[in-house]
Amino acid sequence: MTITHPAGATSLLSGPAQAVVSATAAVVAEHAEQITARFYPRMFDEHPELLRVFNLGNQATGEQSRALAASVVAYAVHLIDPAAPSFAHVLRRIAYKHVSLGIRPEQYTIVGRHLLAAVGEVLGDAVTAEVASAWDEVYWLFAAQLIAEEARLYQQAAVDPAEPVRPYRVVRRIEETADVISLVLEPADGAELPKVVPGQYVSVFVNLPDGRRQPRQYTVSSTAIGNRLQITVRRVRGVNGAPDGQVSSFLHDSVQLGDVLELSAPAGDFVVEPSSTPLLLASAGAGITTVLPVVEHIARTQPERTVIVAHADRTAQDHALRETVQHLGRQLDDFTAYTWYETVDPGDTRSYSGYMDLSKIPLPDDIQVFTCGPLPFMRHVRSSLTARNIPASRIRYEVFGPDLWAAQIPG
Ligand SMILES: Cc1cc2nc3c(=O)[nH]c(=O)nc-3n(C[C@H](O)[C@H](O)[C@H](O)COP(=O)(O)OP(=O)(O)OC[C@H]3O[C@@H](n4cnc5c(N)ncnc54)[C@H](O)[C@@H]3O)c2cc1C
Ligand code: HEM
Repeated sequence: MTITHPAGATSLLSGPAQAVVSATAAVVAEHAEQITARFYPRMFDEHPELLRVFNLGNQATGEQSRALAASVVAYAVHLIDPAAPSFAHVLRRIAYKHVSLGIRPEQYTIVGRHLLAAVGEVLGDAVTAEVASAWDEVYWLFAAQLIAEEARLYQQAAVDPAEPVRPYRVVRRIEETADVISLVLEPADGAELPKVVPGQYVSVFVNLPDGRRQPRQYTVSSTAIGNRLQITVRRVRGVNGAPDGQVSSFLHDSVQLGDVLELSAPAGDFVVEPSSTPLLLASAGAGITTVLPVVEHIARTQPERTVIVAHADRTAQDHALRETVQHLGRQLDDFTAYTWYETVDPGDTRSYSGYMDLSKIPLPDDIQVFTCGPLPFMRHVRSSLTARNIPASRIRYEVFGPDLWAAQIPG
């Protein structure tokens, strides 16, 4: 990694730290995943209570470790290279995730101590006092920005970080497809539903039968039902010997009418601004949960706005929420739906076979794109649209896991 610091540009880092971070960024980047892989076990050892806040599935797959490593390295690069892409979207996404989990400022000391100790463990003698101090400065700059943004978000949502969740009762359970259920939830404390911007998610905390407590994020798939919100959950099955998804299996197998779940306030910035720009909502699999609330909202507030939905799934039978989206689409003046299935039913002449191919779909020039689905799918959507001269700045995406993409691409 070659880093140049344009003459005259200012950095938040002190002068000595800039030089050290420039000289060591490449070696830290090279070892970043080793560092974060050491960081988590040592932190959980000292603070087992954090095992109730961190997603243990993401720990097992290493995805959270990679996301943390990528974000810290990208942040350091952004500090020493003001020409680097804006970091605001990465910061916002992390802050929203933290707020949905009730992360508090004092916990930054714990993370900082273990992260910097892990740097020392992995890089050994290379970590001189100057190197340690420079990376400490990077960490605390990052932490200060996150803490400030999180304080703003907690205040905006009127949430006390010490009590980030509220009880919601399951008032309806809908079997959408063989693998997908929707749960309609109502505040169990009698309070009003918080404001949900279409496209936002909630963190759902569950107490699993083995005694562990675990959070997962679920998009609010509908809010058009009075003082209720809906989440829609795809059952995650383990492949190649991996275990089945813990929380999605629990929600499918064990949660019934009348049960109470704990939900955070709505979070996330994958939201549609109220403009008149035409929208393309490109989803695959469980990503459909981000499409319904947007179509619902547009039908309610801007029925004249052009909306195109494009969805890919294994088969029509796996395509959850299809009828509801179609029904709402009929309330719009200009609504088009395209579907791609790996296996198309005999007689279905409307759906395309195979992976989504947006190259031949008519699209208005000023289209704004929202895409949600597995990462390879979204990469494909993005490249097929940029090939059509749609600027990347008009393509927004949501990852249903730790965002391993954000630190690499500008928002
Ligand atoms: C912002 C956001 C919004 C989301 N919205 C939705 C939504 O609307 N609907 C929805 O269905 N999902 C949504 N998700 C995904 C959801 O949060 C969960 O990630 C999903 O339900 C899987 O959780 P789980 O506990 O069932 O699986 P986990 O137990 O977390 O497992 C996840 C994966 O890790 C693998 N794994 C676990 N342990 C191991 C191991 N030891 N070795 C190898 N592999 C392992 C599992 O096989 C599985 O493939 C969203 C995620 C985010 C971040
Ligand atoms: C400067 C310090 C920190 C950085 C750079 C950081 C970075 C990140 C990143 C990149 C993610 C993934 C976001 C995504 O889903 O895309 C994340 C999630 C998370 N962070 Fe932090 N974080 C910091 C501090 C903390 C602190 C102090 C805590 C509290 C103990 C914490 C707890 C969590 C948890 C629980 C998650 C969700 C993990 C998961 O879903 O697997 N983080 N953080």
